[in-house]
Amino acid sequence: MDTFLPKKDGYVVAVVGATGAVGQAMLEILEERKFPIAKMIPVASSRSAGSLIEFNGESYEVEDLESFDPVGVDIALFSAGGGTSKEHAPRFAEAGCYVVDNSSAWRMDEDIALVVPEVNPNDLEMAYRNRIIANPNCSTIQMVVALKPLHDVAVVKRVNVSTYQAVSGGGGKAIEELAKQTRALLNGESLEVNVFPARIAFNVIPHIDVFLENGYTKEEQKMMDETRKIMGADIAVTATTVRVPVFYGHSEAVNVTFESEMTADHARQILADAEGVCVVDDPSSEDYPLASEAAGTDPVWVGRIREDASCANSLHLWVVADNVRKGAALNAVQIAELLIEQST
Ligand code: A2P
Repeated sequence: MDTFLPKKDGYVVAVVGATGAVGQAMLEILEERKFPIAKMIPVASSRSAGSLIEFNGESYEVEDLESFDPVGVDIALFSAGGGTSKEHAPRFAEAGCYVVDNSSAWRMDEDIALVVPEVNPNDLEMAYRNRIIANPNCSTIQMVVALKPLHDVAVVKRVNVSTYQAVSGGGGKAIEELAKQTRALLNGESLEVNVFPARIAFNVIPHIDVFLENGYTKEEQKMMDETRKIMGADIAVTATTVRVPVFYGHSEAVNVTFESEMTADHARQILADAEGVCVVDDPSSEDYPLASEAAGTDPVWVGRIREDASCANSLHLWVVADNVRKGAALNAVQIAELLIEQST
């Protein structure tokens, strides 16, 4: 099955999970970037089948994934949960469609490419064997975009990251839960906890996804495993992932140790020229990246760059990005753009 996507003027694109937070962002980004689309097909569950989705000024009826026939679809962007991807992505791939999957279902499968276009575009080659490409975890994507240009110069040896993750990473229901709980608390009303393991309004929860036997959470293990799959297995990675009451924009405190010297000034210069990165780092004017400013934007924002006073060849970085855009939808669309660039 190792054929490239045939070159066309316009492609048939399905967005699976089109009614969700990431699916909606995928549609917006396809529009913004003028992705060459011959036909757009929004797909979701039977709950929203038949409802209408706007795309490029036209209305499209949402298809039910269970009964949808993928024959004729060139590219499908999936963001409808891991179980849905496990069940349906192979069916799309067998029908000849390239699937870019935003769930964690295929990321660590050794035959599946896990791609961040600024970091490891050549890994996309693997996709020509099985037609499924995995989009990494949102927290992994923004961190590796910031680390790769530095790794190319001084070789990353170890990374210790703590995340401050927005609720939108948990989808539409999670966004609603923060809004509802905040309203309830401010109005002195009782509140419900449904999506997160504890109240998220006015709180900080060091628990994303399930706990594993080694004491890490699955979100932490994903960051550790995915970073090594994308950047190299020689890198030691440890993570603490935390949910904070922010709607959009993940922030990360990244402590990184290099094989050789890397000064803060040198890192600032390298990152200023790096693809997909914007440096905002001026303590004299109290300028640093903020989730509120990164939300709705495409780059990975890096600031608070400083040498670690406790450890040689080490830096601290503050890395912020819109988790729904670069952390999910934008990265998926960029992978689709790579596929069509390589089409023959
Ligand atoms: P639906 O709106 O029909 O439930 P979010 O991450 O914001 O919660 O969105 C999840 C997305 O995944 C929605 O578009 C949702 O569709 C879709 N989805 C969830 N489960 C399934 C399923 N079993 N089959 C198809 N789409 C699904």
